[in-house]
Amino acid sequence: MAVALDLKDEILELKRLRNAVILAHNYQTGDIQDVADYVGDSLGLAYHAKSTDADVIVFCGVHFMAETAKIVNPKKIVVLPDKDAGCSLEQACPADQLEAYLQQHADKNYYVIAYINCSAGVKALCDVICTSGNAVKIVNQAPQDRPILFVPDANLGAWVMEQTGRKMDLWQGSCYVHVEFTRDSINRIKAEYPDALVVAHPECTQAVRLLADEVCSTERMVDFCKKAAVKNIIVVTESGMLHRLKRECPDKNLIPGPTDRCACADCRYMKMNTMEKLRNCLRDLTPQVEMDEQIRLRAEIPLLRMLEQSK
Ligand code: 13P
Ligand code: SF4
Repeated sequence: MAVALDLKDEILELKRLRNAVILAHNYQTGDIQDVADYVGDSLGLAYHAKSTDADVIVFCGVHFMAETAKIVNPKKIVVLPDKDAGCSLEQACPADQLEAYLQQHADKNYYVIAYINCSAGVKALCDVICTSGNAVKIVNQAPQDRPILFVPDANLGAWVMEQTGRKMDLWQGSCYVHVEFTRDSINRIKAEYPDALVVAHPECTQAVRLLADEVCSTERMVDFCKKAAVKNIIVVTESGMLHRLKRECPDKNLIPGPTDRCACADCRYMKMNTMEKLRNCLRDLTPQVEMDEQIRLRAEIPLLRMLEQSK
């Protein structure tokens, strides 16, 4: 008699049959993180997507992340649980608007640096990509004799300017999740835990970043929390990060950064993925990431440049 498999076992069995690898971003729900082969930030995920020898990449994150995996791995099947899992930063910078802006300002001869949270069409228009984990390193390697246009996140761009001293023109996009944290909401939680350290993502506004003991990518938050000498740490980023941190730092009391409206902040796009949708995309091999080959070829150049420059 056939025994019904539970969802987790079903996913693991399908993964084996498909010779698939499951990559998950730190903001995925705990059950998805627990079934993944690798959980990390955008930079770690890009490296893993590039180096995997699996036949199928199942990308549990948002669409631009799965698209990045396809750009560096065109021969592999890349599926994602929900193809509508977008990103407010990606939406803030449509490729046609960036193209028109670059044409209008052709005299500037911009060196364009794009945060990885953008579409393949935007990647295809830029000189190099960066993530929050390597943005400082990438900007430090930009040519000195050209002005920089940084797209699409103005908050990350402002933080990188503070870190590098390099002036950049900033596209005015933002992450709708991280701008919800305010100076008041973080001061209130700090008052509750006066001895706590604060770690914040660079997509937060400057007012919030100024209250943080450390500003870094989601992956570096793991290191920061492991090494912190105190027990209480306020984590100012999307709520999924708490699952990863609790697993890696069981001795710490990890407190989600609140917004003015909620005790923690969820990204509605990241949370569109569920275990059911993960099972379905492995079973049906759909939805798959597909893109125009000319765009892919153009987008691959700045992505490979990033991987090279962030070694
Ligand atoms: P990380 O690369 O730091 O994980 O950030 C990705 C992201 O989407 C933050 O909102
Ligand atoms: Fe995009 Fe913000 Fe969600 Fe990250 S948290 S995927 S930047 S909307």
